[in-house]
Amino acid sequence: MTMTTGATTDASGLFHIGARWRDMDAWHQRVTEIRRNTPVLRVDADGFSPFWVLTKHEDVFAVSRDDAHWKNTALSVLGPDIGAEEMRASGFVPRSLVHLDDHEHTAHRQVTNDWFKPAVVKHRQPRIDEIADHFIDRMRELGEECDFAVDIAQPYTLRVIMDIYGVPESDEPLMMDLTQGVFGANDPEFLGDAGDPQQRVMQSVMSFIQYFNEITVDRRACPADDLASVIANGEVDGCPMGDEERLWYYIIVATAGHDTTSFALAGGLEALLRHPDQINALRAGGDDGIVRAADEFIRWTTPVRHFLRYATDPVTIRGVEIPEGGRVLLSYPSANRDEDVFVDPARFDVARPDADKLLSFGVGTHFCLGAQFARREVRTFLTKLVDQIADIEATGPAQWSESHFVSGVKHLPIRYRFR
Ligand code: HEM
Repeated sequence: MTMTTGATTDASGLFHIGARWRDMDAWHQRVTEIRRNTPVLRVDADGFSPFWVLTKHEDVFAVSRDDAHWKNTALSVLGPDIGAEEMRASGFVPRSLVHLDDHEHTAHRQVTNDWFKPAVVKHRQPRIDEIADHFIDRMRELGEECDFAVDIAQPYTLRVIMDIYGVPESDEPLMMDLTQGVFGANDPEFLGDAGDPQQRVMQSVMSFIQYFNEITVDRRACPADDLASVIANGEVDGCPMGDEERLWYYIIVATAGHDTTSFALAGGLEALLRHPDQINALRAGGDDGIVRAADEFIRWTTPVRHFLRYATDPVTIRGVEIPEGGRVLLSYPSANRDEDVFVDPARFDVARPDADKLLSFGVGTHFCLGAQFARREVRTFLTKLVDQIADIEATGPAQWSESHFVSGVKHLPIRYRFR
């Protein structure tokens, strides 16, 4: 077998430039060719050290599961080298679950693990129902038209997670703004007053820190039955969790907990409205149908676009050599359209029998902590929408946010009529 370092290309910024995520049909068309011709693609882009994109389901799965040979590190999200240098110089190094490895990771994950177990999440179903009902009512109040992403999907998914956290409703707009500052900083719509995306991220992280420092003081003095109290008082190996780790813990749960799910719901509805025949299929499918449809929403949209892993030893994948310390980009959206795993993967199909092979939540030790919540939130809203809506259609084109990390449908203008 011939060994190579992989075809070298800048891939026109497909994997590292936010604007390339604005047109997902075009993105998938290009990446389908890459998956077929260069499944392990070396990318050399200006300002970025080389990285290798894994586009096949099998490879993303295998690397994610092999945490003995692949590490996350503090640089588990792709950014320009200058950002990494500035981070090291400032000493301000992220230490959330997705940045930790080995025992440190397991021990920190343990702090909140019980809150995310299936039985515990199931127990919160009545509250998820209540919040979903509130936002169905909100659709009624808005008349017959709304921007589903902004008016419904975002505040609904935000409220579910903030409710668990114990963050009051009055602080939800701040949480939304800061999350968009972390995940959407590359999108001009979410840049705010910041001069550049890096500055926007830093400002948002600083505001999160200030906010959650106050929460820590409060929940240490008066612990409540909420996730913020668990994090504020969390212990690792018998000692109080470190200050940095605690702050990053708050930040990852606050951010990862809603934008992702909101993109899955809004993006799934966008696809559904493009395929109106599927609405009837959904109505006919019953409870099992909703479970499959929610997974198809999450497969189709794949809101987390990547994470990185670093090789502990030299390794060869599909004949491509990756040196020790080399980094691979796990392309979840590509893996979820892999022809070797999904039948007719480019078809949106709410009854898809293989939707549960989705890699949208990753796999292995870093498997998404909130997957149970995310699935329930999508299923719950979808059930209510399908039951109560008589007609629904798009009134204009959807818009996708511009980020190579977490992104999806940020505007979805719709018209609807309730039964
Ligand atoms: C559709 C919605 C969601 C998607 C697509 C998603 C996706 C992901 C992915 C891809 C990972 C990394 C997995 C890996 O490296 O193998 C992850 C990790 C994580 N997610 Fe989610 N997520 C979603 C919703 C949520 C929710 C609702 C929460 C919180 C309540 C959450 C909290 C987390 C946390 C804390 C981690 C870090 C886990 C670790 O490193 O051990 N996510 N998620």
